[in-house]
Amino acid sequence: MAKARVAVLISGAGSNMAALIDAGLAPGAPYEVVLVLSNRPDAGGLAIAEAKGVTARAIDHRDFSDRESHERALHAALGKADVQLIALAGYMRLLTPWLVDRWEGRMLNIHPSLLPLYPGLDTHARAITAGDAEAGCTVHRVTRGVDEGPILGQARCPILPDDTPESLAERVKVLEHDLYPRCLADAARDLSRP
Ligand code: GRF
Repeated sequence: MAKARVAVLISGAGSNMAALIDAGLAPGAPYEVVLVLSNRPDAGGLAIAEAKGVTARAIDHRDFSDRESHERALHAALGKADVQLIALAGYMRLLTPWLVDRWEGRMLNIHPSLLPLYPGLDTHARAITAGDAEAGCTVHRVTRGVDEGPILGQARCPILPDDTPESLAERVKVLEHDLYPRCLADAARDLSRP
């Protein structure tokens, strides 16, 4: 069966993007990453994607007068590459309904908390301040509400007494790199179901 064609949208380092690309290259994987788009030309992930043989391109949001016209440019690039599924991976722009509705059911995101806890930013600091025993990450489908869509998978780890937001982020990232490719593979398999 043909692999589902995936685009990863990033704004930064791209460690999740790298994990998604690598898992998609494995024999028998149900998807392949065919395109990486960044809204920031200085995103470190662009060079990593290219080194792995994936077409990577910056579409700088500052070149557009509003969010929707930037999204129209993203959408055109996605269409040109015949993309079937989008994986947001550290993509730091809020999306408008214009793009979200066009990709309904076919856009995933990873968030560094156990949603519905801590949508938004600074998740690890908030979990530590709250005295939580556990932290983790969530992969969900993207809907109009920020960090709100149906949950596809979660992974959790303990918060240790001497954790800082940075040390916790590092531990959660290890979980992210395992969880996201598994959830994306499930979504790709779902695409080919009648
Ligand atoms: C990850 O923690 C992810 O959960 C969040 O943004 C971060 C991106 O990190 N959405 P990276 O660019 O994949 O390393």
